[in-house]
Amino acid sequence: MQAVYFNGRWIAPEEANISAFDRGFLFGDGVYEVIPAFNRRLFGAGAHLDRLTRSLDQIDIQDPLTRAQWMDVLVRLVSECGADDVSIYIQVTRGATAKRDHAYPNPPLPPTVLASASAIVPLSAEIFTKGAKAITVPDLRWGRCDIKSVNLLPNIMARQQAVAAGAVEAIMVREGIALEGAASNLFAVIDDELLTAPLGPHILGGVTRNRLVDMVKDQGQIPLLEVPIPFDRLFDATEVFMTSSTRDLLPITRINAHPVGTGKVGPIWTKLSKAFTKLKQQRET
Ligand code: PDD
Repeated sequence: MQAVYFNGRWIAPEEANISAFDRGFLFGDGVYEVIPAFNRRLFGAGAHLDRLTRSLDQIDIQDPLTRAQWMDVLVRLVSECGADDVSIYIQVTRGATAKRDHAYPNPPLPPTVLASASAIVPLSAEIFTKGAKAITVPDLRWGRCDIKSVNLLPNIMARQQAVAAGAVEAIMVREGIALEGAASNLFAVIDDELLTAPLGPHILGGVTRNRLVDMVKDQGQIPLLEVPIPFDRLFDATEVFMTSSTRDLLPITRINAHPVGTGKVGPIWTKLSKAFTKLKQQRET
C-alpha cells in the first residue's frame, strides 16, 4: 500500500500509529484538510493550504511545514497514489502529552502530522443526471465552523441521518437559516438569483464555493448574492446544489419530501457544472 507522510517520515499506513495521549484523540484538538487532484494534477492546493494555515493559526498551532514542504508532500502523494482523481487528507493535532489538561501545553508540543492519499470514488452518474435528495437537520455544531476542526460529531450524525433517509447530504439549519451541508456548501437559485451563505463563523469557507463565486462574478451572467438563505425560502428555490472538493457541484432535486423546482436538474447548475469542469481541467493548482 502507498506510503503516508507521518511526522516527517514516509512510512507504511499500518505503521502510522499515534500515542493514546495524542490531543487529537483525547480532545479532538486538531484540524484537517481535504485536497483534491484531478487527472493527477492538484486542484486548489494553494487555497487549501492557506485554509490549513488559517485553521492552525486560529487554534495556536504552528504550521509544522513550510508551503514548499507541503507542496512536496502533496505532489508525492498524488504521483504515488496510482489513481487519476485523488483525495489527499491532512491532519495536524496539538501532539501527545502524558498529562491530560484542557489548556494548551506550554511550551507547545511537537504537533502530530499525517498526510495520506486515496482515490476519489465517483458518485453514481445518475446523481448528476437526475439529481439527488438532501434532508434538512438542526445545526448542532459550535460557533466556529470556519475552522476546519476534526471535531465532526454533529457533521457525521447529520450525514448519517441523510444516509438513513436515502439522501446524499444534510443541510444544516441554524436559527431559521439554511447554512451549508455536513461536508459541503449550499447554493440555491431563488427568484433567478444565485444565493449562498456569506463567509463567517457559521460556515466553512469552502474552496469550491469560493472558486465558484469568483467564477460566477467574473462571468457576470448570473446575479449572485452572498446572503443568508432563510429555511422556508429554500422551498421556493428553482435549483439547489451543494459544493465540495470531492463532489464538485452536486445537484439537489429533492429536499425532505419536496421536489426542488421541477424536480429535475436545472439550467444554472448544468451551465455552472460544465464551466467548473473546464476550470478543473485548466488550472494547475
Ligand atoms: N469537507 N462545509 C463543510 C462543513 C465541509 O466539511 C466541507 C468540505 C465544505 C466544502 O469545502 P471544500 O469545497 O473546500 O471541499 C463545506 C471535506 C470535503 C471533508 O470533510 O471531507
